[in-house]
Amino acid sequence: MRDGVVYQIYPRSFQDSDGDGVGDLAGIRSRLDHLVWLGVDALWMSPIYPSPMADFGYDVAGYMDVDPVFGDLAQFDALTEAAHERGLRVLMDVVPCHTSIEHPWFREHPDWYIWADRPNNWISAFGGSAWAPRDGRYYLHSFYPEQPDLDWRNPEVIEAMQDALRFWLDRGADGYRVDAIDRLLKDPQLRDDPPASQPFGLPLREDEAKLALTNSRNAPDTGAALAKIREACGDAFLVGEVYLPSARWQPYSDYFDAVFAFELLHSPWDAHLLRAAIEATTRQPRPAWVMSNHDFGRLSARFGERNARAAAMLLLTLPGPAFLYQGDEIGQGEGPPGATRFDRAGRDRHRHPMQWEGSPRGGFTTGEPWLPLTDPAERNVAGQRDDPTSMLSLVRELIALRRELGEQFEPLDAGEGIVAFRRGGHTVAINTTSEPLRVALEGELCIQTAAGALQDGRLAPHAGAIGVD
Ligand code: NOJ
Repeated sequence: MRDGVVYQIYPRSFQDSDGDGVGDLAGIRSRLDHLVWLGVDALWMSPIYPSPMADFGYDVAGYMDVDPVFGDLAQFDALTEAAHERGLRVLMDVVPCHTSIEHPWFREHPDWYIWADRPNNWISAFGGSAWAPRDGRYYLHSFYPEQPDLDWRNPEVIEAMQDALRFWLDRGADGYRVDAIDRLLKDPQLRDDPPASQPFGLPLREDEAKLALTNSRNAPDTGAALAKIREACGDAFLVGEVYLPSARWQPYSDYFDAVFAFELLHSPWDAHLLRAAIEATTRQPRPAWVMSNHDFGRLSARFGERNARAAAMLLLTLPGPAFLYQGDEIGQGEGPPGATRFDRAGRDRHRHPMQWEGSPRGGFTTGEPWLPLTDPAERNVAGQRDDPTSMLSLVRELIALRRELGEQFEPLDAGEGIVAFRRGGHTVAINTTSEPLRVALEGELCIQTAAGALQDGRLAPHAGAIGVD
C-alpha cells in the first residue's frame, strides 16, 4: 500500500442497484471491475453506517452496522469478498471524534460526550459556536450540531470505539481512513482558543482564522489516544484526515501509515506554490496525496478544467499513496455552486453521481438520482474507455506507470511555471501556465497529457509529460 492508489467511493453516488436513486453496496460490487481495469490497489468508502444523514454518514448512529439505504452486513461481506478476489483492498471510513445526535450513546451515556455550563469561544467547522444547548448545559459539536463530540478522555469511549474498529477488520476490512482526527482530543479545561498570532497554514473560515485553534483541537496528549486506535487496528492500514500543515503531522504520522497532504490539495495551480507544497510535505514522513474529494471538490473544479489532466499526472506520480476521487478519472464536472439541497455547508456540488454512460441518468440508477448528473453526455466511462486520447486512458496509463517509479524522489528546478521532479529513472514535468515553456525532459517520452504536448523541447500550456532514461 506504500505507493498504492486508493480510489475514493462516495457510496451515495457511485452505483445504485435497486432503483431508489441512491448508490449502495451491491452497486459498488457490480462496478468493481472498473477499479480493476483502472489498476487501483484499494477502495475507500465514505461512511456506510446507520445514520440520519445530517452529514451523509459522518453522523454515525451505530458503528457496527450498515444503513439500509446502502444495504446490510451481508452485502458488505459480499463486497469485501468480491474485492479481495480481485486483489483490491477495502478501506472503511471511521468517524471517531463525534457520533450522530441520534446515536443511542448520546441518550444512554451522556458522560461519553463533552459538556460545559457555558460555551467557550470554540467555533464549529461549519460556522458559529461549537456549542449547542441541551437540558440546561451545552454539548460540544466541532461540526454540525447533529454531531456531538465524543470525550476520548473517557476510557469507556475508547473501549467502545476499539470494539467498532475491530468489528470491521474482523469482517475483512483492510484499514481505515480516519475522519477529522486532529479533533480527537481538546484542551481538558476547555479554555478559549487564543487569538491567532500567525497564519494557520491551511485555508480556514474567516472566523476560525482569527483564532490560534490551539485548545479546540490537536491537544498535546493526542498521541495517547492515537495509540489506542493503533492498538485496536494492529497492522491494518490507517490514513489520517489531519487538517494541519505537514510540519505539524506529529504524532499522527507516528501512529498512522499515511496522512493526507492538504497543502497540495489547497495549493493554487501555480508552479512556485505547488513546488513549495510538495517540498514541505515530502520533508515529513508518510504523506498521502489527495487533490480532490467530497468536501473540497473535483480536480477539474479545483485546478481548472484545462489543468485536470496535468493535475492527475501530478497526483499519480508523487511518492506515497495517492487518493483518486470517483469521477475524477473521467474529468467529471461539478454541480452548480450555491445549490444546497442537502448539505448545508454547500458540498452537494462535489457529490453528483458517477457517469458510467452518456444517458441522462448515466447508468447510475434506473430511478430518479438523488442529485442530477452533471455532464454525462460530455464525460462518461463508456465513452472514454476505448479512446486512447481520453482522460480515463491517461489516468489508467499513469496508474500502470506508478508501479515502475520506485521510491526515489528528487524535486528539480526546471524554471518558472514548471513543476518537475525525478522518480528513479523517470522525469515528470508539468507546465502550469498558459504559455508553451521549454523543458529539458531527459530520456524518451513515455506519457504526455495529450498527443503533441511535448514538441521541440517545449511543453504545451497546461500540459504534462513524463520521460524515461
Ligand atoms: C470530514 C469529512 O470528510 C466531512 O465530509 C465531514 O463533514 C467531516 N469530516 C465531519 O465528520
